[in-house]
Amino acid sequence: MVYTVPFVNRSEELRVLEELSARGLTKPLYLYGPEGCGKTRLLREFIGSFRGVGIYIDALEEKDVELALRFSRVLSTATSILAEVVGSYTGSVGRVLAERVSELLGRVLTSLSLKGSKVVVVVDDVARAIGINRIEWYVKRLYELIWRAVDRYGIDSLLIVVTTSEGLSLDVVARHTHSHIRLLWNLGEEGFRELALRLEPPSTSAIQDAWMATGGNPRALIELAMDYGWEVDKWLNSLERRLLRVAEEVRHRGLAKELEMVIEDIDSIYRNPSREMLELRRLLIEENLILSKYMETLVGRELAPSRSLGIGRYYAWQLPAYREVLRKILDEHRS
Ligand SMILES: Nc1ncnc2c1ncn2[C@@H]1O[C@H](COP(=O)(O)OP(=O)(O)O)[C@@H](O)[C@H]1O
Ligand SMILES: [Mg+2]
Repeated sequence: MVYTVPFVNRSEELRVLEELSARGLTKPLYLYGPEGCGKTRLLREFIGSFRGVGIYIDALEEKDVELALRFSRVLSTATSILAEVVGSYTGSVGRVLAERVSELLGRVLTSLSLKGSKVVVVVDDVARAIGINRIEWYVKRLYELIWRAVDRYGIDSLLIVVTTSEGLSLDVVARHTHSHIRLLWNLGEEGFRELALRLEPPSTSAIQDAWMATGGNPRALIELAMDYGWEVDKWLNSLERRLLRVAEEVRHRGLAKELEMVIEDIDSIYRNPSREMLELRRLLIEENLILSKYMETLVGRELAPSRSLGIGRYYAWQLPAYREVLRKILDEHRS
């Protein structure tokens, strides 16, 4: 098995991050995208090669400080500061670091005299760690931190990036103007193929089938290739077990007709926003099956609609496979 998957593609995204880090942003960048689309990998790679002061926090890491934090090379001697900031924490170390990001940054910048530096801070998976009901407050705090830190520590620029795949957090954060919201989508066809070729595909048609089922999602591809030996049907069966519960909930709430409409055309949500449809929207977003896609991508483009991949103008399936499996479950229930 190929356990170390090399980093592929994403050169445009890395270039944009590089540009943004060179000049900083006045508001945090709220980077949002499907589960497994590669947010963590992209940002860890970015911080790993960043030449300025880079701090990456995995807000969901429970125990291991080494995993919860990654510094850019400039900070390789800064680990002792960590012990002070984390202190005798109780609870998840990642969350503690996310909560104390301002203190962490302050300590790093004062003790290492990094005046004039370019600084990037990433807080990964923030909504799940902090909680949807506190995310508004948290993003506002980061916004204030930017203004305070640049002034107080004499740094040249500061870029703060937070990530999430929690769609509901977006509804909350989007109500305010404290952040720039951007979408990171699954890999494009070329990047997907490049990754697929590293995973011992049995044939060219297997790569194509995987593309249609995963829509370019790298985590889904890796799982399909490594755990299901590239057998799409087996992988879909494994998804079915999870989605049966969702389908049951949908029927229980009397939303089956709406689900059929959404399977047919995901933008039905936008076009027919009845009470039932909005209830279904919430459920599908909460279950991480769909997301709204009205914002630009990180590289500043619109994510192009694609009927075959379940991407509409306003909403998209996180993976095309979810739509197919739900369609099958509904069909079987009817017959
Ligand atoms: N550009 C890439 N090249 C190679 N592997 C990738 C790439 N992007 C993501 N992956 C792999 O796909 C899986 C999911 O990516 P991850 O960054 O954890 O997604 P997310 O944080 O968006 O949920 C991981 O195993 C990761 O290493
Ligand atoms: Mg992640």
